[in-house]
Amino acid sequence: METKLRKIHQIEDCQEVIEEAAELIRQGEVVAFPTETVYGLGGNGLREDAAKKIYQAKGRPSDNPLILHISRMDMLKDLVSEVPRTARKAMEYFWPGPLTVILRKSEQVPECITGGLDTVAIRMPADEVARELIECAKVPIAAPSANTSGRPSPTKAEHVMDDLNGKIPLILDGGAVKVGVESTIVDFTEEPPVILRPGRITKEEMERVIGEKTVMNTSLKADDGGVPRAPGMKYKHYAPKAQMTIVLGQDQQAVVSKINELTEQEHSRGGKVGVLAADETAGDYEADEVLSVGRRADMETVMANLYDVLREFDDKAVDVIYSEGFEEESLGEAVMNRLVKAAGHRMIRI
Ligand code: TXA
Ligand code: MG
Repeated sequence: METKLRKIHQIEDCQEVIEEAAELIRQGEVVAFPTETVYGLGGNGLREDAAKKIYQAKGRPSDNPLILHISRMDMLKDLVSEVPRTARKAMEYFWPGPLTVILRKSEQVPECITGGLDTVAIRMPADEVARELIECAKVPIAAPSANTSGRPSPTKAEHVMDDLNGKIPLILDGGAVKVGVESTIVDFTEEPPVILRPGRITKEEMERVIGEKTVMNTSLKADDGGVPRAPGMKYKHYAPKAQMTIVLGQDQQAVVSKINELTEQEHSRGGKVGVLAADETAGDYEADEVLSVGRRADMETVMANLYDVLREFDDKAVDVIYSEGFEEESLGEAVMNRLVKAAGHRMIRI
């Protein structure tokens, strides 16, 4: 299959392209499109054949449920059977935006979308191309991140092309995304609400807006000692091709020394070394490829650059990657969540 790449500069001038994409979706085809978090691979959220095509293109296990994307609040009522007060507050405040809510599903939502669960994930993206596409398609759009399963999520149309060229008919290119990591997922069927995946919206912001405590239950951290509840968490994620290890320590200069020591060892074995660093220390390494994700003081930029840098290491064909760590608070929570997964939980504490 030929994969067409269509650039969208001004949304007003691109009605034809969006209409073409919407028509494909109505017909049960899949299309990649930008959202503010990462690029999504969208299909008609009410059709089983579309869900199958999504799973197939990504190479994703079909028991891993999909997020339904909506463009207007009145699309919600057909998809869910119950909206708790806390969820209502969160949606009113954060939508459109990088928040996915888990609610009890209605009869209308097919089982293949929810992986057999009686709950459904819903999000109203802020990106105007995404919203216009949903508006034109006139159906909720089921969309996982538009990467091959196991690779970092795409933050540029080129990333989607790298992974899915020849497997899908169309990619809408809206340029680089703003946020750079996937939406914050909150399960509102539980009391207190459970954060299943940290993102641009932090635990503190969420608690302030809903006026209640939440618990964090990702595959990495479980405040309540439970098992991971977003089915996607059990799969290997965000992996660069080279083995990655995170080196953690309070003293950033000690981290630099340790990584330089590890680099020397790898060099003596003839290996090529990549280092993922922040701007503050990027100049201090002796590795072959040092890539910075931005200044520590500017975690929004770090978040936006993270997946692009992980993919760049693949192009540089390094054998191992050593990464600096980030403080696990506020936006650092989401950054570390993705980094630790990319490293397959390999960490050295000094
Ligand atoms: O920012 C995002 O959320 C992006 C863009 C494209 O919107 N989408 C995205 O989708 O990250 P995906 O499929 O890569 O991740 C969805 C996650 C998976 O971990 C899945 O297991 C979880 O949401 N999920 C979906 N439905 C669920 C449900 N009913 N209960 C618990 N977790 C659910
Ligand atoms: Mg994904």
